[in-house]
Amino acid sequence: MKNIYFAPLQGYTDDVYRRVHNKLVGGVELYYTPFVRVEVGGIRSKDLRDISPANNKGVPVVPQIIFNSRKEFEYLVGRIVELGYKEIDLNMGCPFPLQAKHKRGCGILAHKDIVADVVEGVKRCGDVKFSVKMRLGWDNTDDAADVVRLLNGVELQHITLHPRTGVQRYKGEVDTDAFARISSLSDNAVIYNGDISSVEDMHNLEARFPNLKGFMLGRGLLGCPSLAAEYSRGEVWSTEKRIALMLAMHTELMDEYSKILKGDTQMLNKMRTFWEYAEPLLTRKPYKKVMKSGNLKNYLAAVAELKRL
Ligand SMILES: Cc1cc2nc3c(=O)[nH]c(=O)nc-3n(C[C@H](O)[C@H](O)[C@H](O)COP(=O)(O)O)c2cc1C
Repeated sequence: MKNIYFAPLQGYTDDVYRRVHNKLVGGVELYYTPFVRVEVGGIRSKDLRDISPANNKGVPVVPQIIFNSRKEFEYLVGRIVELGYKEIDLNMGCPFPLQAKHKRGCGILAHKDIVADVVEGVKRCGDVKFSVKMRLGWDNTDDAADVVRLLNGVELQHITLHPRTGVQRYKGEVDTDAFARISSLSDNAVIYNGDISSVEDMHNLEARFPNLKGFMLGRGLLGCPSLAAEYSRGEVWSTEKRIALMLAMHTELMDEYSKILKGDTQMLNKMRTFWEYAEPLLTRKPYKKVMKSGNLKNYLAAVAELKRL
């Protein structure tokens, strides 16, 4: 049995979602926060709220940072350590051009000098633990190999590898052969991330990559929040039970977000993201009804109908 980690998804796995998931089902070793970055010389208050210990009480959370220099790395690590965190994840995988073209996320992979400098920074961080989340490269699969070798110079908690290039974003086939090649170069433990949507997927990956430390799940776990618990507890839930869990989470999320968000439109937009990856579970027609509901009243009616699925 491998560990399961909840992937960070900006706009989806915020502090509210993580708290509710952890409280109602869990099955996850650690939750990673969406990346925190330097913006106009500081950290956005929205990001600080997301990682504040008060908002993450009782949830096993690791903050993630994105940076394009040792200076940004050291600033962000300093601020996060001040909050009391002892472990930080380093984003070397984000493919969005806004980040990547500024040498952040997977944009850093082509700049071995910056990675080497950050590795030196990691060595000087004393008792702070680090992990790295990365992909294959921007437009090739060679960058990751070089970076993994550089990362062999430090002891990390693990490297999470998503086997796609930056130009692929989250589409197209995952390159499991490249994953096999690159993970074999790592002295650090490796976690597999990408397109896992069932317990069977995890069992197949376990058979092919027996040395993995674990799996990181994103969209598949958002679409079926019991997936980690089903795997780690060796259970198979019925569709009815899976949807019942989503509805229970939905009630708590509505409650929590109504304290933060203003007006029906904000609520509707936020709550619809909760179902975004759940089409396979809900099936097409009920899913469309929820996602296409034009106002909060119709939305809540469509959600209420899910109870009968
Ligand atoms: C909308 C969206 C936002 C994401 N935000 C982050 C992020 O903040 N940090 C990060 O490391 N990865 C981010 N990712 C990547 C996911 O963590 C994950 O690597 C990716 O979705 C592939 O895993 P999956 O197929 O299990 O979803 C994001 C992905 C999506 C689709």
